[in-house]
Order: sequence, then structure tokens, then C-alpha cells
Amino acid sequence: NQIYIGVDLGGTNIKVGICDEQGKLLQTFEGPTGTELGAEAVLERIAQYVRQIVEDSPFEWEQVAGIGAGLAGFMDIPEGFVKFSPNLLWHNVPAKKTLEALLGKTVKIDNDANVAALGEAWAGAGAGIPNVVCYTLGTGVGGGIIINGKIYQGSTGMAGELGHMSIVPDIEAINCNCGQLGCLETVSSATGIVRMAKEAVERGEHTSLALHEKIEAKHVFDAAKSGDEVALRIVNRAAYYLGRSMATLAVIVNPKRFIIGGGVSKAGEILFGPIRETFKKYTPEAAAEGVEIVPATLGNDAGVVGAAGLNLR
Ligand code: BGC
Ligand code: NA
Ligand code: ZN
Repeated sequence: NQIYIGVDLGGTNIKVGICDEQGKLLQTFEGPTGTELGAEAVLERIAQYVRQIVEDSPFEWEQVAGIGAGLAGFMDIPEGFVKFSPNLLWHNVPAKKTLEALLGKTVKIDNDANVAALGEAWAGAGAGIPNVVCYTLGTGVGGGIIINGKIYQGSTGMAGELGHMSIVPDIEAINCNCGQLGCLETVSSATGIVRMAKEAVERGEHTSLALHEKIEAKHVFDAAKSGDEVALRIVNRAAYYLGRSMATLAVIVNPKRFIIGGGVSKAGEILFGPIRETFKKYTPEAAAEGVEIVPATLGNDAGVVGAAGLNLR
């Protein structure tokens, strides 16, 4: 029987998984990305981990029927490039060609959040639902649009770059790592939440966040849950722009479900509550009716499952 390999390249770790034809995850392997070593070294690591996981498994290299990789950044999928990665800081990396040369097999590449969306649509919170939009809230804000069970890539793979919807009004916008002004990622990513928290502390606002030596997004959510007004304002701001962006997408894509994954989504109701409220407030009833905003269910596995799915779906 045949196996399918999925690779999920994150800023900190590279995760590799072996799936069967049904997308059942049989084995996983995780190792450091080594982002600081540069794109070429990272791609070599991916290849090394892929060989490693097969070696450590009961399967033979010959049984590998497909390899897929989700990469964080602006893609040119037809050309097999990562054009630019705001968080890995890659520029024009010929990822497909390089991985294929290293592995001696065809490799399908796509955006990391697109494959996570495919994973969720296939086996997670979107199972059985043809049209869903997924957000991945982590270091960056990723997105994936699934239409009729398939990733909608657009012309080059830039469809679903939801983190770079320009949405914050100029008067309060800051520059994003992508170079544009007011991207959703600047306020709704873990990085954005931490930045807002640090700024509040630096301004001398009265908040328990000042007690942390190094503020993390989780601290902000915890403080908000215990009633810290400053933390609550920051969480509400992150949620507000997510809700606004969903209101926009509801009338463009008309999905049945919005699925929110990534580390930040673990915050739970304190985040989801104001997202749902904002969505309801800014979406025409006919477009909001029956639309659900739910947490992802595959957790860390969505990416590898979806990446393996690039050769199956
Ligand atoms: C990148 C996306 C990526 C997301 C999550 C964003 O900054 O533009 O391509 O999907 O981060 O990794
Ligand atoms: Na995407
Ligand atoms: Zn941006």
C-alpha cells in the first residue's frame, strides 16, 4: 500500500507526517526549523526529516506515493516559488524545484495556512462542509479558503492571504512585515497582541501585564479573563478586526463556517465571543444566517494532514 507525506513548515518547527490514502495520520516527526540558517538549509532539513520519518517507519521509500508541503509565505504556486515570507524572511525561494532535487520525487507545495485549511476541511472542524474559510492565528495570521472541498489558490496562490487584508484605518495603522499598512496580522496575530500589550505597558497604563518580564499572547488572554481592562481592550481589538474581516468575507465567499486555529485560538470564549458579536453586527442578515464561527479541531496536525492531502484531494 501507498503512503502520503505531509510537511508543515513553521517558524519554529518543521513537522512531517505519514498519512494513508484516507488521510489518517500514521506517524509524525518534528524537528527544529533553523530559520536563522536561511532558506536553503531549511529546505535541506525538510528533505532530511522526510527521509528520516520513512526510515523510522515500517514503510519503504518506494511506497511514498506523494509528498506535499505547506510553506509560510506568499506563494507563486504555478512557478513553485515562495515569493516572499513575511515571517521567515524568504525572498524568491524555488522551494518546489529544490525539494524535488533533494528528494528525487515530485513535491506539491502550497501555503501553510491553505494546507491547514484543507486538513480541517477534510478531517477536522469542516468535515463534510463544502465551503469554509479558515484562519490560523499564530506568529502571523494565515488563511485558507476552501471551495467545494478544495483549496482556492487564486491565480498564483495569493488567495486566502487573510492576514494581509488591509483593514485597520490609516489613523491607527502600523506597517506590517509585508510592507503594507494596516494588515489584519498587525493586530490579530500573537505578535500583534504582544506588541499592543508592550505599548500599553510602555505608556504606563495600569495593567497586570507590566509584571511580566517577557509578555506572551497567553498572558494577555489570561489577564483579560481575570478582568484586566487593558488586556481586555487589546483582546477585543484583535477580535474586532477578525470579526470585521469575516463580515467582508461572508459577502464575498459565503462560507458555511469560519474555522479558527493556531495557538491564539486556544484563548477560547474571550476571543470567540467578541468575534461573533462583531461579525453579527457588520454582516447582512442574509449572509450571516446559519454561519458558524468555530475553533479548529485538528490542532497541530491540520498542516501535515492537509499537506499530505495535496496529493489526495
Ligand atoms: C504569511 C502567510 C502565512 C501566515 C501564517 C503570514 O504572515 O503571509 O503566508 O500563511 O503568516 O504562517
Ligand atoms: Na493562505
Ligand atoms: Zn501584511
